[in-house]
Amino acid sequence: MQIKEIDLAVDDLTSEAWLEVHHAANRHVWGGAAERTSIAEIVDVAERRHEVRRSFVVTEEGADGPVAAAQTIRRTRDNVGTAGLWLSVQPDHQRRGIGSSLLVHCEQVLRDDGCDRIHEHSGAPVENGDAATGFAHVNDYRQTLLDLRQDLALPVDEAALTALDPRPDPAAYVIETSVDGLPEAWLEDRALLARRMSTDAPSGDIDLDEEDWDAERVRLLWNTPSPIWGIESVARHVPTGRLVAFTDIVVRPGQPDLAVQSDTLVLREHRGRALGLAVKIANLRALQRERPDVTTVRTWNADTNTHMVAINERMGFVVTGWTREWAKDL
Ligand SMILES: CC(C)(COP(=O)(O)OP(=O)(O)OC[C@H]1O[C@@H](n2cnc3c(N)ncnc32)[C@H](O)[C@@H]1OP(=O)(O)O)[C@@H](O)C(=O)NCCC(=O)NCCS
Repeated sequence: MQIKEIDLAVDDLTSEAWLEVHHAANRHVWGGAAERTSIAEIVDVAERRHEVRRSFVVTEEGADGPVAAAQTIRRTRDNVGTAGLWLSVQPDHQRRGIGSSLLVHCEQVLRDDGCDRIHEHSGAPVENGDAATGFAHVNDYRQTLLDLRQDLALPVDEAALTALDPRPDPAAYVIETSVDGLPEAWLEDRALLARRMSTDAPSGDIDLDEEDWDAERVRLLWNTPSPIWGIESVARHVPTGRLVAFTDIVVRPGQPDLAVQSDTLVLREHRGRALGLAVKIANLRALQRERPDVTTVRTWNADTNTHMVAINERMGFVVTGWTREWAKDL
């Protein structure tokens, strides 16, 4: 067994073989519902998210293609000691210690790169977890959070959206939507919302630092050319003119019929006025208008985040999976 570091590149056979290991492992877990990604978007996100990603491939003599693949994800802007890790073993080669050897290698790479903790997640269509759960426990990862995965089948008919729409008092709040990029005038307020998002969403049994957001960071993530498409709706507080709530959805090129719900936040002082539901309904309406090819919206929320989960249920989302978040001190 040989572990080799590779540079990911678009239209590169080694990169595609590396990705196919992840896809095959994912299909083994999810069957036909497995998510897909693409090298283009993996390469694209790192810089825009202030991440350094290193990729590793495992080969074995006689094997038909790589037997395992991994990527270490180190943050350079905040939470710099807390790394991510994406690791998959070809289904035909699982339960032979390959995952464990690659994990040891990646943990050492991250230690050498100055990280002192890994925080990652694994998902499964069954509540009690799957191979990754056993693998995490035996490798001394502790579970920090359980998320519910919820899916909404599109289209939702307009009458249902209208019935759910709380329609805030227009003298108090107006809802605005932006397609594939944010207006410059939003960026300062949006940075504050992103900062709050990093501390207000339930993170479970782990301490993470508040993220360091400013307008430039929002611009880099949302307003630089990217193969990832996005749509965002915000609530503006009319008396002050400030943005006080936001929600965004992205559609990735690897799976253009799937929209992924990204963040949703209402500033604490403005909660209790159904603004979360109002921005989500507006965004869903806009998504259906702009991207009629999307057939599913997918979201993840802590099982303890009962309010958000209830809002989703009212919109018609159903639970389709469970995601566990894991942490280990290196
Ligand atoms: C999780 C995964 C990486 C494990 O890879 P692997 O090469 O099979 O792991 P190993 O052979 O090193 O297993 C080590 C130990 O983990 C545990 N484990 C692994 N697979 C398991 C399973 N299906 N059920 C229960 N425990 C399991 C066992 O304790 C195992 O030791 P044992 O075989 O002596 O009982 C692999 O199943 C996979 O690719 N899953 C899909 C992708 C994923 O979820 N990755 C993790 C999140 S990034």
